[in-house]
This record gives sequence, C-alpha cells and structure tokens, in this order.
Amino acid sequence: MNFDTSENFALKMDNSDPLKDFRNHFYFADKNTIYLDGNSLGRLPLKAKNLISEITQTQWGNQLIESWNSHWYEKPVELGNKIAPLIGANEGEVVVSDSTSVNLYKLAHAALKYNSVKTRIVSDVFNFPTDLYILQGLLKEFGPSYHLTLAQSSDGISIDLKDLKEKIDENTALVVLSLVAFKSSFLYDAQQITDWAHKKGALVLWDLSHAAGAVPVELDKTNADLAVGCTYKYLNGGPGAPAFLYVNKKWQEKLASPVQGWFGDNRPFEFDLNYQPAEGIRRFLAGTPPVISLMTIEPGLDTLQEAGIKNLRKKSILQSEYFLFLTNEILAGLDFTSGSPTDPEQRGSHISLKHPEGYRICQALIHPQKNAPKIIPDFREPDNIRFGITPLYTTFGELRETIFRLKEIVTTKEFENFSATRKVVT
Ligand SMILES: Cc1ncc(COP(=O)(O)O)c(C=O)c1O
Repeated sequence: MNFDTSENFALKMDNSDPLKDFRNHFYFADKNTIYLDGNSLGRLPLKAKNLISEITQTQWGNQLIESWNSHWYEKPVELGNKIAPLIGANEGEVVVSDSTSVNLYKLAHAALKYNSVKTRIVSDVFNFPTDLYILQGLLKEFGPSYHLTLAQSSDGISIDLKDLKEKIDENTALVVLSLVAFKSSFLYDAQQITDWAHKKGALVLWDLSHAAGAVPVELDKTNADLAVGCTYKYLNGGPGAPAFLYVNKKWQEKLASPVQGWFGDNRPFEFDLNYQPAEGIRRFLAGTPPVISLMTIEPGLDTLQEAGIKNLRKKSILQSEYFLFLTNEILAGLDFTSGSPTDPEQRGSHISLKHPEGYRICQALIHPQKNAPKIIPDFREPDNIRFGITPLYTTFGELRETIFRLKEIVTTKEFENFSATRKVVT
C-alpha cells in the first residue's frame, strides 16, 4: 500500500474501511477525544452500558438470588467458550475467573507440581511485572532448588531467541511468556517456542493479555499447554473485569489448582466437607465471581466475534504501518525513535514511540491547552509513549491527527508546561 500524508488519504481510508461501522458499537462521550490507550482499558461497548442497568435492575433488583440459576452460575464457562475461538481454543478449554495474576499463580503452581523433577522456570525481561512477581513468590513456596531465569533483549525491542532457547534446558519445568510484550509490542512465534519447550520437556504458559482480541492466537494448533489473559484490554470487558484462563484438554485432569475453592468443586451445592475437583475446566475456578463485571464482558466478545479476528488483524497491521509511515515522514528530526519491531509479523496491535520527554509529551496530548483534540495514549517507563491501535474503533484520521499533534507539541515545546513528576497511574 502506498501511503501519503494528506488528510484526503486518511479520509479515503476511513470511508473504504470494511470495519468502519463497528465504531458505532461503542460509547463516545466526546467526539473530540482520540482514544489510543495502549491498551490498559478498552472502550465501553454500548450494549455493556445498557446491560449494567439491566443486571442491576432486573437481575439483581427484581430477580434477586434466582438470577444465579437463570443468568449467573454458568457465565464463567459460557464466556470462556466465547473467548475460545478468539484464541484458537476448543469449547471447554477456557473459563473466566479471578484476575490474570491469580490465574497465573494457579496454573504455574499446577505445572510446577506436575513437572516436579524439574526446578527451572524461564521467562523474559519483557514480561509484565506481575507475572514475574508471581513466579518469584512460587520460588519461595517451592524451595531453594527452584530458579527463575530471564531471557534478555539486546535492542530493548525484541527478545534474543537464541538466548531464550539456550535458557530452556532439560531442567526447565515451565516457560512463562507474554505472547505480546506490554511495552515494545514484540510478538513471539508461539509455534517455535512451544515446539522448543516441549522438546526439552517443559510446559509453556502464555500471558495473552496484550494478544487476545489484538492478534490471532492459535492455542490448539500450536499444541499450547496453558494460558491466561485479561478481558479489559482488546476484549473491551470493562475496568477490573475478571480474567480468563486456558488449559489444554490434555492437561485438565492431570493438573490441580492450588486454590481449592468451592466453585471448582464437583458439586458445590452438596456442601460436602471434602473437596472433589470438578471435571474439565471448571476445576480451575475458585470462588464467587464479581457478577456485574463478569456479565458485562459479553457484549465486547460478541462484537469481536462479529468483526472477525482475522479482519481486525488485517486492519491493525494496515493502521500500524500507516502510523509508522507518518512517524517517519512527519516526526523526523524531532528525537522520536520507534520502540516496537518494524516487521508487522513480530508486532502486536500497539506501537511504542520513545522520546526523552515522553512523559511530558503524553501529558500535553491528554491535556491540550488550545483547541487541539484530547488524545489519550499511555506512558510506560522510562520513555515509551504507547499507542494502542484498536481496529474496532480507531480511525486513520485519528492516527494522522495524533502524529501532527505530536509534531506541534515538540516543535512549540508545549510539553514544557507540564511537570515530569509521574501520576500514580500512567
Ligand atoms: C501482560 C499483562 N499481564 C498481567 C497483567 C495484570 O493483570 P491483572 O491485574 O488482571 O492481574 C497486565 C495488566 O496490564 C498485563 O498487561
């Protein structure tokens, strides 16, 4: 595709975009805000907005406890089955529960117990900190013979695959990686890593938080073992919505959750005093889910399903390439460097631009002082401005406007009006 920098070109791209109508499925409080959060929270689906009132009024308000049977009890499994096709899993392999951190704990613990003659865990320096914290906690729990080793990056953008493969040795019980790295957007070749780990007798646990709904994931095709991920990013499930976990059918009866809660029991309402794990994926549930947040995940999943993950990926790549083209054309000489892989096959659906004044530039985008649009990316230390491309609602026009606004903020030094002291949430 030959891109150009004109407004007309962006307009033409938006008009001919086959997914353009999906933007109407989302709530826009202010048409002048460009939302490119990268991606810590997806936009609110209109259906979810209405559903929240229905759940509180009809299900909770009117039907009270009866709603457990009619609407709520089966939802973790039903939603898991709706997430499954988005991540290349089969029915009965995915369930919605807890947070990503807790799910990672449950599955990593189960894998270490199963593979108990091996004592090494391998991850990488790009993994999300919570994943590493959970693994560090497991080391304490499993004892001093256990070690966590991190594969390195020589360019800060991609993981050195040779280093990773060398670290996965015969003593490796478990490999835990984010399929898409939260800062740089580096995307692993899942097949290659899974094959290598399996050859060494290790299980692989993927964190799909930045991948689910953003890139096609093929868990069953790649013979994956385990995965976790959140629902509030590209799945548009809402702030703090419960996460999901995946356990390949081949492992479900072999692995045990360390959190033996009653929702994972075979017959919770028999109130037996001894735990009996449920059959299948249910055994990885723990306790009562946060029902309102759980229920409001569904509209986002339905929208993604309708748009089709392959179509979304096609648009995401096109928009990312356009964004990088504009970066090169318009921002040259302004101290921006790309913090993401240049090859789209190795990149998720967000792009990091690095700048020494990244934080203050971010603040200037979010708090414009003139008639400029409000633009919301996010910031990741030390200097990454992270732009999430969400093909369900991102337009080419918005991407173009963002690049020209970045140019304005840097050339006029507008960012100097802002403090570099970080807010709590960046
Ligand atoms: C890759 C990744 N894993 C895990 C988490 C944390 O998930 P949770 O807060 O649901 O435990 C995040 C949060 O942004 C993330 O980006």
